[in-house]
Amino acid sequence: MVKIMKLNEQLGIKYPILQGGMANIATGSFAAAVSNAGGLGIIGAGGMDAESLRREIRRCAELTDKPFGVNIMLLNPESEKMAQVVCEEKVFLVTTGAGNPGQYVKLWKEHDIKVFPVVSVPSLAIRMASLGVDGIIAEGTEGGGHIGEMTTMTLVPQICAEIDLPVIAAGGIASGRQMLAAEALGAAGVQIGTLLLVADECPIHENYKNRILKAKSSQITVTGRIGGTPVRLIRNPMSREYIAKEKEGWTPMQLEVFTLGSLKKAVFEGDLDNGSLMAGLVVGQVNQRGSVKEILEGLYQDYLTNRKRLICS
Ligand SMILES: Cc1cc2nc3c(=O)[nH]c(=O)nc-3n(C[C@H](O)[C@H](O)[C@H](O)COP(=O)(O)O)c2cc1C
Repeated sequence: MVKIMKLNEQLGIKYPILQGGMANIATGSFAAAVSNAGGLGIIGAGGMDAESLRREIRRCAELTDKPFGVNIMLLNPESEKMAQVVCEEKVFLVTTGAGNPGQYVKLWKEHDIKVFPVVSVPSLAIRMASLGVDGIIAEGTEGGGHIGEMTTMTLVPQICAEIDLPVIAAGGIASGRQMLAAEALGAAGVQIGTLLLVADECPIHENYKNRILKAKSSQITVTGRIGGTPVRLIRNPMSREYIAKEKEGWTPMQLEVFTLGSLKKAVFEGDLDNGSLMAGLVVGQVNQRGSVKEILEGLYQDYLTNRKRLICS
């Protein structure tokens, strides 16, 4: 509990829960809703350009007086410009995905920005710690979207054993028991994505939300395993076709016919056949709608109840 209290203080949050920065989904207003509810809201810059990111940061700052962050996907062609925008806009915290943010850490630290890279292997966490980052998000393969190979169960303790920084567990967390397990593994907090997709404030298409609510975890699959760009999502005609063609030996370039704009098709058009219905292995546990506030409070209360039960048993 000491680690959790320290994290809450470090990030100015009520609950030790970060919202995953989801591309095309986590807008400024969604991130503000999470921060207002006591978690840490994070704008997902993945599908934006640098100027739309600036607009979303300003929108978020209008809607909350609480701290919030920005997730920069390093594969984004505008990631270098975005690295400057977060400095100019005095963003509180940056998380990064899809690579090594080493070249930006010095700049962000000079601007007093807290830096929490997302990693999927212990070696990157160790390298990042040596550059002076403030914490690590250890994202296991159970999570939705782009994934690595290690499970949260194996990744979090190995990172905690190597570095003396707050570690946030991500991937496979949607209940108090899972949050408690993350704490037992050494984490100071958790990052959640899939559970928040069904929040009232989450701006995804109703079809996508309903699909999440109905899906079982056995309906989750991974595209791009062979080509080295694995993405976890709900099985549908697009993912079946993708995996079949991948097995036939189609090149990553040929396979782009399925993936180009596919998350946008799911998020904005609600296209359940051709869209990329990204979701993690907890999807079978996500079966109730609610406001962001209800979801965060519910998760944290469930964690406290199970913690008490465990200690008393
Ligand atoms: C629809 C979707 C989109 C995502 N997009 C991003 C992204 O743009 N950048 C990123 O670092 N992580 C992304 N993630 C991962 C989340 O930030 C988070 O770490 C993950 O969802 C946690 O696992 P969970 O889904 O089991 O809660 C995405 C996840 C989902 C479900």
